[in-house]
Amino acid sequence: MLLPTLLLAGLAQALPKAEPGHYLETRQGGSGFTMLRFGCSQVVIDRIDPLVNPGQAPSPHMHQVVGGNAFNVSMATTDVSKLASCTTCSYSEDVSSTSDIYLSNYWTANVYFKARNGTYKRVPQMPNRDLFQDKYTAKTKGGFVVYYVSPGKGKTTAFKPGFRMLVGDPTNRVSKNMKMQTCFRCYTGPNYGGDNAAPCADAKLDTEGFPKTTCPGGIRSNVLYPTCWDGVNLDSPDHKSHVAYPKGGPASFSGTTIGGGDCPSTHPVKIPQLMLEIVWDTRNFNNKADWPADGSQPFVLSTGDPTGYGQHGDYVFGWKDQSLQKAMDEAKGCMGSLCTSLKTQEPTAGNACAVKAVVKEEQDGWMKDLPGMEGMPM
Ligand SMILES: *[C@@H]1O[C@H](CO)[C@@H](O)[C@H](O)[C@H]1NC(C)=O
Ligand SMILES: *[C@@H]1O[C@H](CO)[C@@H](O)[C@H](O)[C@H]1NC(C)=O
Repeated sequence: MLLPTLLLAGLAQALPKAEPGHYLETRQGGSGFTMLRFGCSQVVIDRIDPLVNPGQAPSPHMHQVVGGNAFNVSMATTDVSKLASCTTCSYSEDVSSTSDIYLSNYWTANVYFKARNGTYKRVPQMPNRDLFQDKYTAKTKGGFVVYYVSPGKGKTTAFKPGFRMLVGDPTNRVSKNMKMQTCFRCYTGPNYGGDNAAPCADAKLDTEGFPKTTCPGGIRSNVLYPTCWDGVNLDSPDHKSHVAYPKGGPASFSGTTIGGGDCPSTHPVKIPQLMLEIVWDTRNFNNKADWPADGSQPFVLSTGDPTGYGQHGDYVFGWKDQSLQKAMDEAKGCMGSLCTSLKTQEPTAGNACAVKAVVKEEQDGWMKDLPGMEGMPM
């Protein structure tokens, strides 16, 4: 069993059970352990990046973005107050009570299929599995699932207004032994086949780079952010130095205390474990006759990366007031999309929230080049 046994002790049965046999099933609420897990539809696909390339349109590569509709070429860096009026996520973070809000954004590179004839097609996402009676995730359009995990009340410090960070290195093309930071899971069949281990913990189905074989049920990406913060800086020039992994390296999922280890003295403040989980619907691209003749795998990130080692995720914090801290500190703990202190919205509302792409270019046809990669050796 991959789960830390301490977490399993004394867990109440107050919350609905996940599907029997699923690895999250053993994580029923109680004892203050919190795992927010919620679906977010796509808010836009656009070639901009307000974190790494603020003000630049187009930025070097395409992203798929979820969260608030304040996502733009640039975003305010101080108290990022009060910009968005809707979010694509299940937890609406009190959207309805006031327009005086700013909502988080999360974004990653897109995945494309490169056919044997050299042309590219964007791989769409499909909704993630329903767990814990989640009424939202299975109805999302595009986008992905977001997790925030805390080992218990008072154990983590929520991000502050203006906080932002980046995980992963888009230029990386070799293994850095960071499978616990970003990985791909190769689903062995329909309905998330083979989904039996915690993210990035399956020795066979989880890989740091793209899977080398066909994945009959699609491919899942997990992007896990660092869990330690310097306690001072909301951002840093590389968008990474203000956060760090525990002394022992990237924490296993839900391992913010156990297994995750202590934070280094330079970054002493434990922050919630943020994770993105994206299900790429590669099922229509499994025809080996269209795969490269040399037998290599055909998927490529929008950065031009055919290895997958350059997988990365961006984050701009925007929860209203103390809402995230309150959720992390709920006495009984929150599970999935059920959290007493947080408001949720209907999928129709989340799916209606969108922003228009700033950079007008082809997104979904068969393309000779990846957007922004014209003339690049690939
Ligand atoms: C994005 O920013 C531009 C100015 O840089 C502004 O004109 C536009 O209204 C903004 N879009 C949104 C959706 O906020
Ligand atoms: C390239 O291959 C794809 C997949 O078979 C096909 O749909 C597309 O039409 C082809 N494009 C060209 C220009 O041959």
